[in-house]
Amino acid sequence: VRTTVSVIKADIGGLAGHHIVHPKLKEIAASELAEAKSSRIIEDFYITSVGDDLQLIMTHRKGVDSSEVHGLAWNTFKKCADAAKELGLYGAGQDLLKDAFSGNLRGMGPGVAEMEFEERPSDPIVVFMADKTEPGAFNLPIFKIFADPFNTAGLVIDPKLHSGFIFEIMDVIESKVVELSSPEDMYDILSIIGTPSRYVIKRVFRKVDREIAASISTTRLSLIAGKYVGKDDPVAIVRAQAGFPALGEILEPFSFPFLVAGWMRGSHAGPLMPVSERDARPTRFDGPPRIVALGFQVKDSKLIGPSDLFSDVAFDETRRMANFIADYMRRHGPFMPHRLGPEEMEYTTLPEVLKKLEGKFRHE
Ligand code: 13P
Ligand code: 13P
Ligand code: MG
Ligand code: MG
Ligand code: MG
Ligand code: MG
Repeated sequence: VRTTVSVIKADIGGLAGHHIVHPKLKEIAASELAEAKSSRIIEDFYITSVGDDLQLIMTHRKGVDSSEVHGLAWNTFKKCADAAKELGLYGAGQDLLKDAFSGNLRGMGPGVAEMEFEERPSDPIVVFMADKTEPGAFNLPIFKIFADPFNTAGLVIDPKLHSGFIFEIMDVIESKVVELSSPEDMYDILSIIGTPSRYVIKRVFRKVDREIAASISTTRLSLIAGKYVGKDDPVAIVRAQAGFPALGEILEPFSFPFLVAGWMRGSHAGPLMPVSERDARPTRFDGPPRIVALGFQVKDSKLIGPSDLFSDVAFDETRRMANFIADYMRRHGPFMPHRLGPEEMEYTTLPEVLKKLEGKFRHE
């Protein structure tokens, strides 16, 4: 069976502030998707939330960029946004940046990660969902999963992984993509993805047969809106086992709470903390940034699961370290590098403040 997995998310309003999704919105989304399942637009779905972002995890047979599936997600978010307005939720419809749906969700605000594949007899996948950060936050872990032999033992010992992976990397400023191949182009890959605000890994393919291995959402809301309208809060899908990295190799990079851009007002660097669904409720300085990982088995286009992967106590030390780093970073207050640099602050309300100050400068 050829199955498509679509993970589509949007912030359609928070309770309170940018904290969590109101249960009523999840109920509305569940009833919309249940109806779509009974009319076979989709084959299966799972709804969850990470912070203030509503997550629609769907399987279907319509391929990527399907107007039916994207339209379903858009209409579901619209209905939820209407309910969010009625409840007075904060930032109701925050990520819905366009008025009319015209075929697919590209450039409209919601984040989309999708992939279509021929199901293996047993087909495990991991769905990642982050809050209070941007798509480039996936650069470091995706690189480690598919290119770092100190992370992924399979790159060394599994013949199917041994020839490496192809990285499709997007320049989100100029809307261009480049394909680079690991291990031979590894230093070139690192020379661009080390700038995660601009270069974002979009897809990864297995080199031996160009089979899709990972797909990451690349939406940069500030580039669509031309101003700060909240952080992108990206999602990703990664395939596991039997010719792909093992589940534990996919989760291993997240044992290091590396620094990402986002957190308060989308304007601060902070540690990415891996958490269970239950703990995906960021509040400290609106964070620190969170990530949830759900494991599913895909069978006959149905979602078996999920298992809540970061609920493992083995990530307790990572969380402890993330809290320590959060303390350390916070003590910088409004100073860089805790506060982001000027290029990224351009999309916030800081330029307004700087403009008022301009006239007060005198030449020296
Ligand atoms: P199992 O023997 O539990 O299937 O584990 C195989 C494996 O590859 C673990 O990384
Ligand atoms: P969200 O993108 O999660 O809405 O966060 C916005 C923000 O400014 C938090 O301080
Ligand atoms: Mg929000
Ligand atoms: Mg959010
Ligand atoms: Mg957001
Ligand atoms: Mg086994």
